[in-house]
Amino acid sequence: MAHTSALFEPLAVRALTVPNRVWLSPMCMYAAISRDGMVTRGHQVHYGQFALGGVGLMLTEATAVVPEGRVTPFDAGLWSDAQVEPWREVVDTVHDLGGRIAVQLAHAGRKSGHYPGLPGDEQPAVAVPCDEGGWVSLGATGMAFGDYPHPRPASDEDLRAAVDAYVDAARRAVSVGFDAVEIHAGHGYLIHEFLSPVTNTRADRWGGSVEGRERLLREIVRDVRSAVGPDLPVLVRLSAEDAVPGGTLAADTAATSIRLIGDGADLIDCSGGGLVAGTEYRPGPGYQVAAAEEVHRAGAPAAAVGMITSAAQAETIIRTGQADAVLLGRELLRNPFWAQQAARELGVAVPAPRRYYRAHWGEELTLRALGW
Ligand SMILES: Cc1cc2nc3c(=O)[nH]c(=O)nc-3n(C[C@H](O)[C@H](O)[C@H](O)COP(=O)(O)O)c2cc1C
Repeated sequence: MAHTSALFEPLAVRALTVPNRVWLSPMCMYAAISRDGMVTRGHQVHYGQFALGGVGLMLTEATAVVPEGRVTPFDAGLWSDAQVEPWREVVDTVHDLGGRIAVQLAHAGRKSGHYPGLPGDEQPAVAVPCDEGGWVSLGATGMAFGDYPHPRPASDEDLRAAVDAYVDAARRAVSVGFDAVEIHAGHGYLIHEFLSPVTNTRADRWGGSVEGRERLLREIVRDVRSAVGPDLPVLVRLSAEDAVPGGTLAADTAATSIRLIGDGADLIDCSGGGLVAGTEYRPGPGYQVAAAEEVHRAGAPAAAVGMITSAAQAETIIRTGQADAVLLGRELLRNPFWAQQAARELGVAVPAPRRYYRAHWGEELTLRALGW
């Protein structure tokens, strides 16, 4: 009898059908080395490898909607038309190999403007001085993140401009040919800083009540939805739990998620934390799945992420209805062919390019052929 797997069932989201539930979690590469937000040939290979490996949908690294929204000067961007063509090369590469790719649009707010501090870098992970191309960051208030420089509290005008920047970047994403967009509203970045009662102490229409705190995100979601049209999936990444006293809980996030779906979002990508410097938490296998499950059980399509590394674990999350998709980050960096290995373990068709058939046929398992 043929085996079945919930993990390798397709998922339809608006006009997009994603062939399986193994997705690449967004991961900054800090590889736009000319400091102009332009992706490179390295990005084509980087994302291309996951297409060959049978990942259902990949989320790009956080891609800045304005230059001051970059986590580091080396982040990818989509704030200018000049960035469209290099991204198109990446997206075309992924499509040629049978994959699907969504762009994660981000504004890092008060956490922007640091050097990445990668192994081997000359500069440690400190704020980029203004005379080295740094900038004054934008925040919900003037409160700093840990020992980062103090941000400039955002004015009405700044926030209108931030909404417009997301919309313009989403329009560019459509012209690039991305299969979906994700709005990054987690990890203590600008939108998350507004969402959380811990960091948003404003008394104006952008703060105060839940309605005020959600205003920035909901305006972005609604305006992005009308800019990209009815067919393109719009995902939202939230920190489902702030993991700090007085912060947002999964139940709050579930309620927010339902409102976001009403605004035109399609799926909530449930990450966590990142709001306050020095927060202690001990991640273990599947440490954020329970929060995704709460969002999902409330009625919002949801993805789970965080130390999901085994086929059995991923299969259980989907089969038991904890989430609609799983996102893998570091495990896919270690093994871009994880999806194929998982399919083999679960005894179902291996997602692989047709032209690789000799590597996969001749075994008991059949091939679920990707386009290439
Ligand atoms: C190198 C690296 C870069 C990351 N960059 C981003 C990012 O750009 N956007 C984002 O939402 N999350 C980012 N994350 C978080 C991951 O998407 C993911 O949520 C986290 O690593 C937990 O999943 P994992 O245990 O499967 O790695 C990053 C994580 C890593 C390891």
